[in-house]
Amino acid sequence: MQVFHTIAELRAYLTERKHLKRSLVPTMGNLHAGHLALIAQAKANSDLVIATIFVNRLQFLPHEDFDSYPRTWDDDVKALSDAGCDVLFAPNETEFYPEPQTFKVHPTPLLADKLEGEFRPGFFTGVCTVVMKLFQIAQPHIAVFGKKDYQQLAVIRAMVRQFSLPMDILAGETLRADDGLALSSRNRYLSAEERQAAVFLSKTLRAMADAAQAPNADIQKIEADALQAMRDKGWQPDYLAIRTQQGLQAVDAAKREPWVVLGAAKLGKTRLIDNFEF
Ligand code: PAF
Repeated sequence: MQVFHTIAELRAYLTERKHLKRSLVPTMGNLHAGHLALIAQAKANSDLVIATIFVNRLQFLPHEDFDSYPRTWDDDVKALSDAGCDVLFAPNETEFYPEPQTFKVHPTPLLADKLEGEFRPGFFTGVCTVVMKLFQIAQPHIAVFGKKDYQQLAVIRAMVRQFSLPMDILAGETLRADDGLALSSRNRYLSAEERQAAVFLSKTLRAMADAAQAPNADIQKIEADALQAMRDKGWQPDYLAIRTQQGLQAVDAAKREPWVVLGAAKLGKTRLIDNFEF
């Protein structure tokens, strides 16, 4: 696997391999099996897989975990190389943002200001800005993002569509631990006791999806009861919501479209997110 830390080196390498169909898998490192499944998906759909590792300051709020975000460089390089990744692009902050990034990509508030965006204002502007820049640098034919970050995937798809970017976005399924907890870099923050309790988020979301499929289901009550159930267990939920898969709109119980249940909640100091389509 080739490792590049500068944009110029990566571009020079890619210019010589223009004929290859290339895929991009953007990450912030601290890789787990979920990321490696995205690499496998990229490999199956292209000739040259480029993974990126860059902890993007622009998508963290001042009180969030930018400084403590787990950085596991040696393990990540080995995991990517073992997974057959061809190129790793890992710029430092001065390389990626040599001057303050005052030009930004602001996604539509209709999609980006709710759910995650309500609790992490500016998050999707940070994500879109870094992803757009990575797209410009690597010019991939394909980019792969996990469904675990469901709203992020929807926002990126909309960005690619509205800017007519010449690439396909592939969605990777969420990988789960045996008890159902979605794999996430932030699971690392959980104490042993919290790790045992953490499955309650996915269980709650599954129960909400089941309840929503009953005839005459009262969606608002399902959401309110689930919020209360999580609070009763000592969690601090930000949102637990049943939305349309298309556009993440409030659902109309009389009109059965494809839905998704999404949730974000804090267990102790760790904020977890998850979702299920149904
Ligand atoms: O999902 C992530 O890890 C990040 O939001 C991404 C897409 C790599 C952008 O920094």
